[in-house]
Amino acid sequence: MPVPTELAIRTLNLTRTFEVGETIVEALRGLNLEVIKGQFVALVGPSGSGKSTFLNLVGGLDRPTGGELWVDGMELSASKERALTEHRRRRVGFVFQSFNLLPRLTALENVALPLIFVGVPERDRLDRARELLVQVGLAERLEHRPTQLSGGEQQRVAIARALVSHPTIILADEPTGNLDTATGAEILSLLRRLNRDQGTTLLLVTHDAEAAGFADRVVRLRDGQIAAGDPSHGLSPERHSDSPAGALSSAEVSASPDQSHGGRP
Ligand SMILES: Nc1ncnc2c1ncn2[C@@H]1O[C@H](COP(=O)(O)OP(=O)(O)OP(=O)(O)O)[C@@H](O)[C@H]1O
Ligand SMILES: [Mg+2]
Repeated sequence: MPVPTELAIRTLNLTRTFEVGETIVEALRGLNLEVIKGQFVALVGPSGSGKSTFLNLVGGLDRPTGGELWVDGMELSASKERALTEHRRRRVGFVFQSFNLLPRLTALENVALPLIFVGVPERDRLDRARELLVQVGLAERLEHRPTQLSGGEQQRVAIARALVSHPTIILADEPTGNLDTATGAEILSLLRRLNRDQGTTLLLVTHDAEAAGFADRVVRLRDGQIAAGDPSHGLSPERHSDSPAGALSSAEVSASPDQSHGGRP
């Protein structure tokens, strides 16, 4: 018997419909996708194809209108508000294009902040935040405020903050969108390193083909579904989850732009 592959994310006919006045927008229209634990997936697709909508659902910031969404074995689509809040605080780390750091707080305080909400004592919060800032190469910037940091440094602080509560999934929505090419590449290398070192699942939304090259797997969305022609298109979830070998089809592997780190999952 093959050992079942552990899934970080599994969706079944996932839908998210928005009603604005008379208009109904089907942002996700029956999305079927599976992501293996520890995988680095780049989510690409045209503007409006549903990428951010999907990230928000996985992160528990929003709820689906139909279908099923499982994250780390928990069915978010059937979860109560309280469970979703716990999910957001403990399992997920967000990184956004616009960094979203608090301007009055130092780098250290920004990174330590999420730990307040999970009840970690101050001393431990600061120790952990310092450790993370060292990991992202900012040991010399602990007391700097966001305006005293470069864009790339601010994004590294945001990444440290995303990781501080030991999440199992990092959700990054265009994290290099406000950075120049070289700095963006540094941020992507950092994300990839953290993904490999810590085994954290990483979902990266990007418009940039080069950024997608850092990932284990590229998934293309179009009109709220997996794009026709994408290796994941039309694959039944069952076929994915049977065995580790079946989890990543040969088509997917050959479509991966970066195979230098094969052998995963
Ligand atoms: N809160 C909302 N209310 C109404 N419509 C929404 C809302 N959020 C998203 N939409 C619509 O859903 C569709 C998908 O939006 P989404 O933000 O997921 O796209 P995206 O793929 O992230 O695009 P981009 O690359 O431009 O960021 C769009 O047509 C958008 O207008
Ligand atoms: Mg978006």
